[in-house]
Amino acid sequence: MAGNWKMNPATEQDAMDLSESLTKLLGDETCPIDDENPLCTEVVVFPPHPFISKVKEVVEDAGITIGAQSIYFEDKGAYTGSVSASMVKSLGCEYILCGHSERRQTFGDDDQAINRKVLKVLDSGMKPILCIGESKAEYDLNIKNEVCAMQLSKDLANVTKEQMKEVVIAYEPVWAIGTGLVCAAGDANETHAFLRTVLARMYDDDVAQETRIQYGGSVTPDSVDELMAMPEIDGCLVGGASLDADKFGRIINFK
Ligand code: G3H
Repeated sequence: MAGNWKMNPATEQDAMDLSESLTKLLGDETCPIDDENPLCTEVVVFPPHPFISKVKEVVEDAGITIGAQSIYFEDKGAYTGSVSASMVKSLGCEYILCGHSERRQTFGDDDQAINRKVLKVLDSGMKPILCIGESKAEYDLNIKNEVCAMQLSKDLANVTKEQMKEVVIAYEPVWAIGTGLVCAAGDANETHAFLRTVLARMYDDDVAQETRIQYGGSVTPDSVDELMAMPEIDGCLVGGASLDADKFGRIINFK
């Protein structure tokens, strides 16, 4: 379960308040999934860059992992306003969002740039969460699958089968993001199953089955149980509801 705080909260103090509420609420109920803890729910939060270190100090007490919302693909240099993979890695980030629709739409990240970011994250020893999904117009034109397949093939270019063990996919229909219009669980499940057929074509059946695919778009405590009951949905990427510790806590403890 991932919480993308986007450009929130407004101040460092607000970020600390949210982190403390979440940590208090969760106690030590979360833990990293590994061979010893196969049934744990892995939880990651993505604060804005300036708050990463302080948030990490607090939320790691609840076993929550920290991630960064974005990086630039170059290592260093004259790129005003950007941060590199090694910078956020040195702060303890383990996951990086790549290809979020808000980056695609507002900041002009195209598939080539997203692919370079995915490769940089992997080369730096971190894990990309690659966000893909169709717009409302593409949904209406009934080309959702084609759009998602194209994004997967372009954004994962030159990513090896071995590296796919570190990649998470987030299917986020753009029309569902921040709108309150959650995708019907059955429809999301069908799209996830389709994405696995694309991964099977690009790699093989093992990669298709083992890649974690999250759903994102207006996930709330009211919708999470039905979504998580779907066999193809492995987790959620939560925006708005992750800014409320009670709501995010309920989402993490889905039934
Ligand atoms: O990264 C998160 C997604 O964009 C979903 O955001 O839960 O506010 O719709 P949302």
